[in-house]
Amino acid sequence: MSANDLRHQESDTLGPHAGIAAAANVSGMDAYRALVAEAERDYEGFWAGRARAMLDWHKPFSKVLDESNAPFYTWFEDGELNASYNCLDRHVERSDGSRTAIIFEADDGAVTAVSYAELLARVCRFANALKAYGVGKGDRVVVYMPMSIEAVVAMQACTRIGAIHSVVFGGFSAKSLNERIADLGAVALVTADEQMRGGRPLPLKGIADEALGMGHCDSVQHVFVYRRTGARIGWNSPRDVWMHEAMAAQSTQCEPQWLGAEHPLFVLYTSGSTGKPKGVQHAAAGYLLWAAQTMHWTFDLKQNDVFWCTADIGWITGHTYIAYGPLLCGATQILFEGVPVYPDAGRFWRMIERHRVSLFYTAPTAIRALIKASHENPDTHPGRFDLSTLRVIGTAGEPINPQVWQWYYEHVGNDRCAVVDTWWQTETGGQLIAPLPGATPLVPGACTLPLPGICAAVVDETGQAVPHGHGGLLVVTRPWPAMLRTVWADPERFRKTYFPAELGGATYLAGDGAMRDAHTGYFTITGRIDDVLNVSGHRLGTMAIESALVAHPGVAEAAVVGCPDALTGEAIVAFVVWKSARPEGVFAAQMAAELCAWVASEIGPIAKPKEIRFGDNLPKTRSGKIMRRLLRALANGEPITQDVSTLENAAVLEQLGLPR
Ligand code: PRX
Repeated sequence: MSANDLRHQESDTLGPHAGIAAAANVSGMDAYRALVAEAERDYEGFWAGRARAMLDWHKPFSKVLDESNAPFYTWFEDGELNASYNCLDRHVERSDGSRTAIIFEADDGAVTAVSYAELLARVCRFANALKAYGVGKGDRVVVYMPMSIEAVVAMQACTRIGAIHSVVFGGFSAKSLNERIADLGAVALVTADEQMRGGRPLPLKGIADEALGMGHCDSVQHVFVYRRTGARIGWNSPRDVWMHEAMAAQSTQCEPQWLGAEHPLFVLYTSGSTGKPKGVQHAAAGYLLWAAQTMHWTFDLKQNDVFWCTADIGWITGHTYIAYGPLLCGATQILFEGVPVYPDAGRFWRMIERHRVSLFYTAPTAIRALIKASHENPDTHPGRFDLSTLRVIGTAGEPINPQVWQWYYEHVGNDRCAVVDTWWQTETGGQLIAPLPGATPLVPGACTLPLPGICAAVVDETGQAVPHGHGGLLVVTRPWPAMLRTVWADPERFRKTYFPAELGGATYLAGDGAMRDAHTGYFTITGRIDDVLNVSGHRLGTMAIESALVAHPGVAEAAVVGCPDALTGEAIVAFVVWKSARPEGVFAAQMAAELCAWVASEIGPIAKPKEIRFGDNLPKTRSGKIMRRLLRALANGEPITQDVSTLENAAVLEQLGLPR
């Protein structure tokens, strides 16, 4: 990074505010530049220093980075540690463990808190229970749980014994759950009788039973069930085990299993440009180091902070900034079961006031929904609540447009908090491009600069850097500790997707477009460059939705594209060719509703198209390729500028152009 990159036009930027900067963990741009320079001077030394500072090692590492088998990099390979020891025991050993680890607020507002000592005891009990039921090092455990302390207990217990957890978002369907269990060959599933969201129960155990009944799940020996609501559920003895009963029978002591730094910590599935989700595999030490480090840098975490990340544990944000980062740092955090609009859209602000939250992390999609709601019901406006405890407020997962950023800054942050727009991915393990609250001048809509040690760049298709002010592909040119290690059971897919030969085979291709500001060098993310949509911050592959649609007996062919949406960021528009006569009128509306329900049951409600249009055919080139750009124009109601002379059947454009 050149000095030029860091020149700022003061008039366009906000902060850092004196109050934050003076006491910040990284105070002022000189301190940031010094860290960047340190990493440039001695890359391995920089990371070794961070790894020693952030983590407790059972056996110290002697080697930092091994690049000999690129892109299958390894970090700190001969070191040994345990994740749950680093998240729990070390805090209890250094104090009396009475500090509150998690304040849980249930959907109905009931609050329970758990100290570090209590959390450790529960994790040990469940780790012992897993062992008692035959789960061991390297075994895969799928976690299909509501937002709960028990979900964190389940994840931490896996890490304690070296089992590999894979959390599946509670909104995914039985089929999605089945595919993930089968891909992993999981030996156990941890679920709940039901989950409560927005006053409504969702039958998790029922869905889990359905998933296990779909075949390819013979590997599953036990299903541990957390009793959340006490609802009547199906029971399959001896396979099914109540989590509380299994735990009650066990000791509160469990020696952590010391594991190599590269031992897989978890696998988390994410959408790619094929129909099959990718099992992104993370290694323990590098991931944990970055989870802890970014808590210090991006959130400026301090001893007395109350941290709240609103993400679900089913996504990477809920892993890094709920299940690991805050616990690694010994912080107190809020864990919320419900949804932002229940019982009303003031819920987040009321909770910040109630729990005196100082660091808040949410998604642009939630902010957009709450802006709208506050116009409809002024009682839910953040200005009605005491948010004076806030210091840093963050966003992740999608682009945040400058107007939304400004509203967040003014009305939630009261013009005095740092807004950290953080860019990262399931694959990157933690935030890579983000402002530092006490250092980086903020620009609405920009995630600003790479964190120290992260070599992000914008390049063209051949890997050549593009000048600032021009769009290109976002890449990371050097390996970093928290990067994914492989795609579960598919190393070739890992290599081809993330380290394509065209870029030299050792540069990480993020899958996003980006542009750097000509003056400041700040990064702005321009959106995905592949067939991945971002709906309300959820990554969805168009291929996965198309496969779900064509699995419906009435559908001959389907193509899915995204179109901008004021609330969800992007929305799904599906173009469908019916096997028999093209549905029209009321029948078309009925079939569209049926297909939406179908997609919800195939993937999950998050993948439901916003709109379905039927045509006699899809627009294709002579060689039979679907003209997706054209479909995008149709979805957006834009004039068609492409050459359509090669279209087989131009009449379909009229059919597909009409929203139903
Ligand atoms: O397109 C980028 C978008 O979200 C994708 C990653 O999604 P996921 O793997 O679910 O990880 C979410 C962790 C934050 C990226 O490829 N994205 C993420 N953060 C931002 C973003 N787009 C714009 N600005 C961001 N700050």
